Amino acid sequence: MELDDADAAGVFALESTCEDDTRRVAEALAAVLEPGDVVALEGTLGVGKTLFSAALARALGVPPEEHVASPSYALVNVYRGGRAPVAHLDLYRLEGDDELAGIGFDDLLDEGAIVVVEWPERARAIGDVATFWLRFEDTGPTARRLTLLVGPEAAREALTSTLSAFRAAARRP
Ligand SMILES: Nc1ncnc2c1ncn2[C@@H]1O[C@H](COP(=O)(O)OP(=O)(O)O)[C@@H](O)[C@H]1O
Ligand SMILES: [Mg+2]
Repeated sequence: MELDDADAAGVFALESTCEDDTRRVAEALAAVLEPGDVVALEGTLGVGKTLFSAALARALGVPPEEHVASPSYALVNVYRGGRAPVAHLDLYRLEGDDELAGIGFDDLLDEGAIVVVEWPERARAIGDVATFWLRFEDTGPTARRLTLLVGPEAAREALTSTLSAFRAAARRP
């Protein structure tokens, strides 16, 4: 799958105004994820990819005593104890696609892990297998724009309805 200009408008874009907003988007996404899904989180340093990944892992049932932190040097951390294994990848330091094989990327998919990837653009292969592609942009000190660029149709519909309810709730005084 290539991201092209046709996708650039996105399925939806959300303005997160605080950490909890971002966590709630992660929770909404977790509800539609299935084993074998690959979630790409694109965006610069400090934009909230790790915070989002941790909230996603939690919502998938990874127990609270498992600290979810950036796997920058290991490239991957796998958390069990949730409804599926959760593999959290940070490809910032990836040297090339063949390194993905070295961390057992295909095995993770074969065992039905849900794979969350920071810096997905560092590996060409992620673009081919990503089920969801989310772009994070920094729009202020605690403001982030989250754009879903790619996602399966049924999941997009479910997400759009959950998140529009969430936006309506957020607007309520
Ligand atoms: N709306 C927001 N959503 C997510 N993170 C936010 C938000 N506002 C402020 N932050 C802060 O931004 C930082 C994000 O860090 P992190 O998740 O490690 O980013 P990344 O993994 O993208 O480098 C955290 O310090 C977090 O508290
Ligand atoms: Mg990070």
